[in-house]
Amino acid sequence: MISHGTHYFAIGVLLAASAAADCLSGSTVVVDSQTALAAALADCTTFGRKIEIDSSFSGAASFAGVTNLSAAISTNLSVPGLTEILLPDVVQGYNFIAGSTPRLRNFSAPRMTDFLALRLDTEEALTVDIPLITAIDSIDVGGKTLYLNFPMLENITGMLSLDNEVSSAEPFAVDFPLLRTATEIVITGTVSNIYLPRLKSAYSATQIGNSGDAIALDLPRLSEVTGGLAIGGNFSSISLPSLVETNATISISASSPLSLNFTSLVKANTIEITGNVTDVYFPQLTSANRIYISSSLDVNCTGYDQAAAQSSLNTSDGSSGCYGSSTTVATPAAGHSGLAEIAKIGVGVGVGLGGFIILAAVAYFFCLRGRK
Ligand SMILES: *[C@@H]1O[C@H](CO)[C@@H](O)[C@H](O)[C@H]1NC(C)=O
Ligand SMILES: *[C@@H]1O[C@H](CO)[C@@H](O)[C@H](O)[C@H]1NC(C)=O
Ligand SMILES: *[C@@H]1O[C@H](CO)[C@@H](O)[C@H](O)[C@H]1NC(C)=O
Ligand SMILES: *[C@@H]1O[C@H](CO)[C@@H](O)[C@H](O)[C@H]1NC(C)=O
Ligand SMILES: *[C@@H]1O[C@H](CO)[C@@H](O)[C@H](O)[C@H]1NC(C)=O
Ligand SMILES: *[C@@H]1O[C@H](CO)[C@@H](O)[C@H](O)[C@H]1NC(C)=O
Ligand SMILES: *[C@@H]1O[C@H](CO)[C@@H](O)[C@H](O)[C@H]1NC(C)=O
Ligand SMILES: *[C@@H]1O[C@H](CO)[C@@H](O)[C@H](O)[C@H]1NC(C)=O
Ligand SMILES: *[C@@H]1O[C@H](CO)[C@@H](O)[C@H](O)[C@H]1NC(C)=O
Ligand SMILES: *[C@@H]1O[C@H](CO)[C@@H](O)[C@H](O)[C@H]1NC(C)=O
Repeated sequence: MISHGTHYFAIGVLLAASAAADCLSGSTVVVDSQTALAAALADCTTFGRKIEIDSSFSGAASFAGVTNLSAAISTNLSVPGLTEILLPDVVQGYNFIAGSTPRLRNFSAPRMTDFLALRLDTEEALTVDIPLITAIDSIDVGGKTLYLNFPMLENITGMLSLDNEVSSAEPFAVDFPLLRTATEIVITGTVSNIYLPRLKSAYSATQIGNSGDAIALDLPRLSEVTGGLAIGGNFSSISLPSLVETNATISISASSPLSLNFTSLVKANTIEITGNVTDVYFPQLTSANRIYISSSLDVNCTGYDQAAAQSSLNTSDGSSGCYGSSTTVATPAAGHSGLAEIAKIGVGVGVGLGGFIILAAVAYFFCLRGRK
């Protein structure tokens, strides 16, 4: 006869065995509370199963005790009560992709050195602290404002996307002291400061917008721009001293009076400058396909005239030109002055499809920001 004690012991061993096995493989674990999360992670230092945070989860989700999370963490489409993601011991993570988590305010991973991707979207002020990470695939975060701590991050192989597109947003600082490369950069919303002192390469489309108070944009090392560089909004100055040669379309749309000087630019493809620009200089330019300046202010076209001459710009088809609110400044493309004409030239002839798409995208982006 088997005693009850033996019975319970056998069940206990079975449970322990299955719990241990559960650390590494098995179906997605759906957790609806910290208790359920702690139970799922119990005695696991490496956890290999996907974790989904269910919509009823409330409060902080702590992964304490786990050093290696080798599968994805995601959230239900909407987790209105989730406030924090705490990964105090995780050294190697996989990714964290959140759906709608409007109350999320903290993502903390103080020991993490390996991580692929992070996507967070909240209506709260959001702190993201991953101080030891040096390389990551992508960062896509949005909140009322952002406090980002990535002092060691050097390379982003995919996208860096930051925004504060919620009502009553507060300006956020973009501060990545060691960042050298990113494939795509999208920064939009109200920005208080942009500090990217080492940024050298932005391979795909780069969009930087600011709908808040004017800030200075200085990208001292940016030299490799391939996909397109679109800057729009309120900037007191834009400085690109290392940009010497690029095939990318550069488009700048200024919302408050702006004087531009492409101090080092020697070879360019298409440059489109619109909005409240007061003057634009290209002291080194020797080659460009198209330079189109259309200002809502009375722009000084001296710099454009010099660049057109220095770079043998083809000004005969109207795709290049310098136009301001006053018609007296119309330069080589004589006869095309006046805003109605500019609109027709811009859309009909001048702007190539790529340029047009970029311009449209930029306009759309900044219109949207403006409305919010
Ligand atoms: C984390 O776990 C994965 C899968 O078991 C393994 O390939 C990887 O080497 C582990 N990383 C560390 C730092 O232990
Ligand atoms: C989200 O949670 C709800 C309620 O728990 C569930 O019915 C639904 O299947 C979940 N959706 C996803 C995408 O996980
Ligand atoms: C985020 O969580 C960490 C770890 O618990 C804590 O030290 C930090 O103060 C939290 N930050 C915020 C903004 O809540
Ligand atoms: C970042 O990229 C540069 C250039 O490709 C490389 O030399 C450097 O080692 C990378 N840094 C990290 C931390 O991966
Ligand atoms: C730009 O910022 C300045 C303050 O720096 C502000 O006075 C101005 O209204 C802003 N302009 C736009 C168009 O937002
Ligand atoms: C621009 O394109 C030409 C032809 O495709 C290529 O030879 C050149 O290296 C490119 N320049 C830059 C700076 O990417
Ligand atoms: C230029 O400034 C005017 C007046 O401040 C403003 O109404 C307009 O929207 C600005 N243009 C752009 C493209 O932002
Ligand atoms: C543009 O910048 C260059 C290099 O700093 C400088 O020499 C030149 O005077 C500037 N041009 C204008 C019109 O400010
Ligand atoms: C336009 O700029 C040039 C060069 O900076 C300057 O010499 C000229 O006086 C300016 N023209 C007007 C009308 O301000
Ligand atoms: C300038 O562009 C027009 C229209 O594309 C073209 O017909 C003309 O040959 C070009 N001129 C030069 C010097 O390339």
